[in-house]
Amino acid sequence: MAVREIIRMGHPTLRTRARPLTTEEIGSPGIARLVEDMIETLHHAGGIGLAAPQVNEPVRLAIIEITDSTSRYGDVPAMPLTVFVNPEIEVLDDVRAGFWEGCLSVPGLRGFVQRPQHVRVRARSLANEPLELDLQGFLATVFQHEFDHLDGRLYIDRMEDPTLLMYEEEFEQFVAASASIPAPE
Ligand code: NI
Repeated sequence: MAVREIIRMGHPTLRTRARPLTTEEIGSPGIARLVEDMIETLHHAGGIGLAAPQVNEPVRLAIIEITDSTSRYGDVPAMPLTVFVNPEIEVLDDVRAGFWEGCLSVPGLRGFVQRPQHVRVRARSLANEPLELDLQGFLATVFQHEFDHLDGRLYIDRMEDPTLLMYEEEFEQFVAASASIPAPE
């Protein structure tokens, strides 16, 4: 296992549509090693999600984990470490709500993004078994943020009001002081 470098906004891989994993690849040692590295990288960075393109591997694979140790994001539902292979997301309800998002590939910044708050996710597990999740609220936002990485999108692309992009220190000073606001990575 190894901590990988997280590439940052400006690196072309973050703007590339990632390719699906084949059935043979899903169970392969190479992908198992990539997932181990991604887990170690996520834990090292202290985020709640990481997509393979963020470690410069342009494949449709992401991990998400929300634990008590990431409670700095506020009062958010827990989500055990889960690996999503070739995920697809379906919006079940267009009603949107906004969260202050952050991204390990856009370090130091927070931006307010409104997204649909009820989605269904279908993916494969590392054992190539089907996964299906119905997600609402903050979790719906987290999954949309992570899976956007697989399509070469960053949260800033989704912002409607550029005045709501700011440095973390100023966010803490002027916005978060009065409220507990979760922020997906
Ligand atoms: Ni991100």
